[in-house]
Amino acid sequence: PLVKEMFGLADLEEAVRAKFGLKQVVIVPGDSDDSDDVKRELGRAGSRVLRHVLTPGDVVAVMGGSTMARLAAHLSVPSPLRDNWFVPARGGLGESVDYQANTIAAELAKRTGARYRMLHVPDHLSEEAYQSIMQEPNVREVVDMIRSARIVVHGIGDATAMARRRKLDADTVQEILRDGALAEAFGYYFDREGAVVHRMATAGLRLEDIEAAESVIGVAGGHSKGEAIAAVMRFGHDDVLVTDEAAAQEALRHA
Ligand code: BG6
Repeated sequence: PLVKEMFGLADLEEAVRAKFGLKQVVIVPGDSDDSDDVKRELGRAGSRVLRHVLTPGDVVAVMGGSTMARLAAHLSVPSPLRDNWFVPARGGLGESVDYQANTIAAELAKRTGARYRMLHVPDHLSEEAYQSIMQEPNVREVVDMIRSARIVVHGIGDATAMARRRKLDADTVQEILRDGALAEAFGYYFDREGAVVHRMATAGLRLEDIEAAESVIGVAGGHSKGEAIAAVMRFGHDDVLVTDEAAAQEALRHA
Protein backbone atom coordinates (compact mmCIF):
# COMPACT_ATOMS: atom_id res chain seq x y z
CA PRO A 1 0.00 0.00 0.00
CA LEU A 2 2.88 2.38 0.75
CA VAL A 3 4.38 1.90 -2.72
CA LYS A 4 1.01 2.48 -4.26
CA GLU A 5 0.55 5.65 -2.29
CA MET A 6 3.93 6.94 -3.36
CA PHE A 7 3.13 6.09 -6.93
CA GLY A 8 -0.14 7.99 -6.61
CA LEU A 9 1.64 11.12 -5.38
CA ALA A 10 4.17 10.92 -8.21
CA ASP A 11 1.26 10.91 -10.67
CA LEU A 12 -0.29 13.90 -8.95
CA GLU A 13 3.05 15.74 -9.06
CA GLU A 14 3.30 15.12 -12.79
CA ALA A 15 -0.31 16.20 -13.39
CA VAL A 16 0.25 19.51 -11.57
CA ARG A 17 3.61 20.03 -13.23
CA ALA A 18 2.18 19.53 -16.71
CA LYS A 19 -0.97 21.57 -16.07
CA PHE A 20 0.92 24.67 -14.96
CA GLY A 21 4.06 24.19 -17.05
CA LEU A 22 6.39 23.97 -14.07
CA LYS A 23 9.91 22.54 -13.92
CA GLN A 24 9.32 20.60 -10.74
CA VAL A 25 6.49 19.84 -8.32
CA VAL A 26 6.96 18.25 -4.92
CA ILE A 27 3.89 17.05 -3.04
CA VAL A 28 3.76 15.83 0.55
CA PRO A 29 0.86 13.57 1.60
CA GLY A 30 -2.08 15.01 3.55
CA ASP A 31 -3.61 18.42 4.18
CA SER A 32 -1.75 21.10 6.14
CA ASP A 33 -5.03 22.83 6.98
CA ASP A 34 -5.89 19.84 9.16
CA SER A 35 -2.54 18.75 10.45
CA ASP A 36 0.48 20.50 11.83
CA ASP A 37 2.61 17.46 10.99
CA VAL A 38 1.76 17.91 7.33
CA LYS A 39 2.69 21.58 7.48
CA ARG A 40 6.01 20.63 9.05
CA GLU A 41 6.64 18.13 6.25
CA LEU A 42 5.79 20.82 3.73
CA GLY A 43 8.42 23.09 5.29
CA ARG A 44 10.92 20.26 5.27
CA ALA A 45 10.23 19.47 1.60
CA GLY A 46 10.65 23.17 0.76
CA SER A 47 13.97 23.31 2.56
CA ARG A 48 15.23 20.30 0.54
CA VAL A 49 14.29 21.93 -2.74
CA LEU A 50 16.06 25.13 -1.71
CA ARG A 51 19.17 23.22 -0.67
CA HIS A 52 19.32 21.57 -4.09
CA VAL A 53 19.07 24.72 -6.15
CA LEU A 54 21.52 26.75 -4.04
CA THR A 55 24.93 27.34 -5.57
CA PRO A 56 27.82 29.33 -4.08
CA GLY A 57 27.42 33.06 -4.48
CA ASP A 58 23.65 32.99 -4.81
CA VAL A 59 21.52 35.70 -3.31
CA VAL A 60 18.22 34.25 -2.08
CA ALA A 61 15.24 36.57 -1.59
CA VAL A 62 12.62 35.18 0.77
CA MET A 63 9.08 36.16 1.63
CA GLY A 64 7.48 35.80 5.03
CA GLY A 65 4.59 33.78 6.41
CA SER A 66 4.07 30.73 8.59
CA THR A 67 4.97 28.29 5.81
CA MET A 68 8.26 30.05 5.11
CA ALA A 69 8.94 30.01 8.87
CA ARG A 70 8.58 26.20 8.76
CA LEU A 71 10.93 25.99 5.82
CA ALA A 72 13.51 28.11 7.63
CA ALA A 73 13.27 25.93 10.73
CA HIS A 74 14.24 22.86 8.69
CA LEU A 75 16.99 24.05 6.42
CA SER A 76 20.28 22.39 7.21
CA VAL A 77 23.40 22.17 5.13
CA PRO A 78 26.44 19.86 5.31
CA SER A 79 28.89 22.77 5.43
CA PRO A 80 28.48 26.52 6.06
CA LEU A 81 27.29 28.61 3.11
CA ARG A 82 29.83 31.40 3.53
CA ASP A 83 29.23 32.74 0.01
CA ASN A 84 25.46 33.00 0.19
CA TRP A 85 23.18 35.83 1.20
CA PHE A 86 19.62 35.67 2.39
CA VAL A 87 17.61 38.86 1.99
CA PRO A 88 13.95 39.71 2.57
CA ALA A 89 12.05 40.03 -0.71
CA ARG A 90 10.17 43.02 0.66
CA GLY A 91 10.09 45.30 3.64
CA GLY A 92 7.40 45.35 6.28
CA LEU A 93 4.07 44.03 5.07
CA GLY A 94 2.30 44.43 8.38
CA GLU A 95 3.02 40.88 9.53
CA SER A 96 3.76 39.83 13.09
CA VAL A 97 7.50 39.62 13.70
CA ASP A 98 7.82 35.81 13.53
CA TYR A 99 6.39 35.84 10.05
CA GLN A 100 8.23 38.80 8.59
CA ALA A 101 10.55 38.25 5.67
CA ASN A 102 13.38 39.97 7.62
CA THR A 103 13.04 37.42 10.42
CA ILE A 104 12.98 34.48 8.01
CA ALA A 105 16.06 35.73 6.11
CA ALA A 106 17.99 36.09 9.36
CA GLU A 107 16.92 32.65 10.57
CA LEU A 108 17.95 30.99 7.30
CA ALA A 109 21.36 32.65 7.46
CA LYS A 110 21.82 31.69 11.08
CA ARG A 111 21.02 28.06 10.36
CA THR A 112 23.35 27.79 7.39
CA GLY A 113 26.28 30.05 8.21
CA ALA A 114 25.32 32.35 5.33
CA ARG A 115 25.08 36.13 5.51
CA TYR A 116 21.98 38.25 5.51
CA ARG A 117 20.81 41.81 5.14
CA MET A 118 17.63 43.36 6.45
CA LEU A 119 15.33 45.84 4.81
CA HIS A 120 13.76 48.25 7.24
CA VAL A 121 11.47 50.03 4.85
CA PRO A 122 7.71 49.80 5.35
CA ASP A 123 5.66 49.10 2.24
CA HIS A 124 3.10 51.82 2.83
CA LEU A 125 5.12 54.95 2.16
CA SER A 126 4.21 58.21 0.50
CA GLU A 127 5.92 58.77 -2.85
CA GLU A 128 7.99 61.53 -1.25
CA ALA A 129 9.17 59.42 1.69
CA TYR A 130 9.90 56.53 -0.65
CA GLN A 131 12.07 58.68 -2.93
CA SER A 132 14.08 60.09 -0.07
CA ILE A 133 14.62 56.79 1.75
CA MET A 134 15.86 55.25 -1.50
CA GLN A 135 18.62 57.88 -1.55
CA GLU A 136 20.11 56.36 1.60
CA PRO A 137 23.20 54.41 0.52
CA ASN A 138 22.50 51.66 3.06
CA VAL A 139 18.97 51.12 1.87
CA ARG A 140 19.98 51.38 -1.78
CA GLU A 141 22.62 48.69 -1.32
CA VAL A 142 20.16 46.21 0.20
CA VAL A 143 17.52 47.01 -2.39
CA ASP A 144 19.99 46.41 -5.23
CA MET A 145 20.93 43.10 -3.67
CA ILE A 146 17.28 42.04 -3.33
CA ARG A 147 16.58 42.94 -6.92
CA SER A 148 19.53 40.86 -8.12
CA ALA A 149 18.39 37.66 -6.37
CA ARG A 150 18.93 34.49 -8.40
CA ILE A 151 16.53 32.53 -6.21
CA VAL A 152 13.16 33.65 -4.82
CA VAL A 153 11.26 31.57 -2.26
CA HIS A 154 7.72 32.58 -1.34
CA GLY A 155 4.48 31.54 0.28
CA ILE A 156 1.03 31.90 -1.27
CA GLY A 157 -2.04 33.11 0.55
CA ASP A 158 -5.77 33.53 0.10
CA ALA A 159 -6.43 37.18 -0.83
CA THR A 160 -9.03 37.90 1.85
CA ALA A 161 -7.06 36.16 4.58
CA MET A 162 -3.88 38.08 3.69
CA ALA A 163 -5.60 41.45 3.35
CA ARG A 164 -7.04 40.97 6.85
CA ARG A 165 -3.78 39.70 8.30
CA ARG A 166 -2.05 42.82 6.96
CA LYS A 167 -4.81 45.02 8.34
CA LEU A 168 -5.49 46.77 5.06
CA ASP A 169 -8.26 49.30 5.53
CA ALA A 170 -11.81 48.18 4.69
CA ASP A 171 -12.02 50.29 1.51
CA THR A 172 -8.86 48.79 0.07
CA VAL A 173 -10.01 45.26 0.90
CA GLN A 174 -13.36 45.95 -0.81
CA GLU A 175 -11.58 47.32 -3.86
CA ILE A 176 -9.18 44.39 -4.14
CA LEU A 177 -11.98 41.84 -3.87
CA ARG A 178 -14.14 43.75 -6.35
CA ASP A 179 -11.24 43.50 -8.80
CA GLY A 180 -11.45 39.74 -8.46
CA ALA A 181 -8.44 39.09 -6.24
CA LEU A 182 -8.37 35.61 -4.81
CA ALA A 183 -4.67 35.03 -4.26
CA GLU A 184 -1.76 36.87 -2.74
CA ALA A 185 1.97 36.33 -3.15
CA PHE A 186 5.03 38.63 -2.86
CA GLY A 187 2.68 41.38 -1.64
CA TYR A 188 0.78 41.32 -4.96
CA TYR A 189 -2.85 40.29 -5.39
CA PHE A 190 -3.91 38.05 -8.29
CA ASP A 191 -7.23 37.17 -9.90
CA ARG A 192 -8.34 33.75 -11.16
CA GLU A 193 -6.39 34.16 -14.39
CA GLY A 194 -3.20 35.05 -12.59
CA ALA A 195 -3.38 38.73 -13.53
CA VAL A 196 -2.09 41.21 -10.94
CA VAL A 197 -5.04 43.25 -9.70
CA HIS A 198 -3.36 45.12 -6.89
CA ARG A 199 0.17 46.07 -6.04
CA MET A 200 1.86 48.24 -3.48
CA ALA A 201 4.82 50.42 -4.40
CA THR A 202 7.73 48.61 -2.91
CA ALA A 203 11.39 49.06 -2.13
CA GLY A 204 11.75 45.31 -2.48
CA LEU A 205 11.21 42.81 -5.23
CA ARG A 206 9.22 44.09 -8.20
CA LEU A 207 7.40 41.95 -10.73
CA GLU A 208 10.22 42.38 -13.23
CA ASP A 209 12.71 41.06 -10.68
CA ILE A 210 10.58 37.96 -10.14
CA GLU A 211 10.46 37.46 -13.90
CA ALA A 212 14.23 37.85 -14.08
CA ALA A 213 15.04 35.49 -11.18
CA GLU A 214 16.32 32.12 -12.37
CA SER A 215 14.59 30.01 -9.80
CA VAL A 216 11.26 30.95 -8.23
CA ILE A 217 10.00 28.48 -5.64
CA GLY A 218 6.46 28.62 -4.24
CA VAL A 219 5.69 26.80 -1.01
CA ALA A 220 2.05 26.54 0.09
CA GLY A 221 -0.37 23.84 1.19
CA GLY A 222 -3.81 23.14 2.63
CA HIS A 223 -7.04 22.63 0.67
CA SER A 224 -8.12 26.19 1.43
CA LYS A 225 -5.22 27.50 -0.67
CA GLY A 226 -5.84 25.35 -3.75
CA GLU A 227 -7.54 28.04 -5.77
CA ALA A 228 -4.99 30.68 -4.76
CA ILE A 229 -2.15 28.37 -5.74
CA ALA A 230 -3.75 27.78 -9.16
CA ALA A 231 -4.03 31.56 -9.68
CA VAL A 232 -0.39 32.24 -8.79
CA MET A 233 0.77 29.36 -10.98
CA ARG A 234 -1.19 30.93 -13.86
CA PHE A 235 0.75 34.14 -13.25
CA GLY A 236 3.40 31.88 -14.65
CA HIS A 237 6.73 32.84 -13.14
CA ASP A 238 7.21 30.01 -10.70
CA ASP A 239 9.63 27.22 -11.57
CA VAL A 240 8.99 24.94 -8.63
CA LEU A 241 5.89 24.34 -6.50
CA VAL A 242 6.12 22.59 -3.15
CA THR A 243 2.67 21.72 -1.85
CA ASP A 244 0.54 19.06 -0.18
CA GLU A 245 -1.86 16.51 -1.56
CA ALA A 246 -5.07 18.36 -0.62
CA ALA A 247 -3.93 21.68 -2.12
CA ALA A 248 -2.67 19.96 -5.27
CA GLN A 249 -6.03 18.27 -5.87
CA GLU A 250 -7.87 21.51 -5.24
CA ALA A 251 -5.51 23.46 -7.53
CA LEU A 252 -6.17 20.98 -10.34
CA ARG A 253 -9.92 21.36 -9.85
CA HIS A 254 -9.50 25.09 -10.40
CA ALA A 255 -7.05 24.80 -13.27
C1 BG6 B 1 3.27 36.34 3.71
C2 BG6 B 1 3.82 36.61 2.38
O1 BG6 B 1 4.18 36.70 4.66
O2 BG6 B 1 2.91 34.98 3.80
C3 BG6 B 1 2.79 36.28 1.39
O3 BG6 B 1 4.15 37.97 2.28
C4 BG6 B 1 2.24 34.89 1.52
O4 BG6 B 1 3.26 36.55 0.10
C5 BG6 B 1 1.88 34.60 2.94
O5 BG6 B 1 1.10 34.77 0.72
C6 BG6 B 1 1.53 33.14 3.22
O6 BG6 B 1 1.43 32.97 4.60
P1 BG6 B 1 1.23 31.60 5.32
O7 BG6 B 1 1.28 31.92 6.77
O8 BG6 B 1 -0.10 31.10 4.89
O9 BG6 B 1 2.35 30.71 4.87
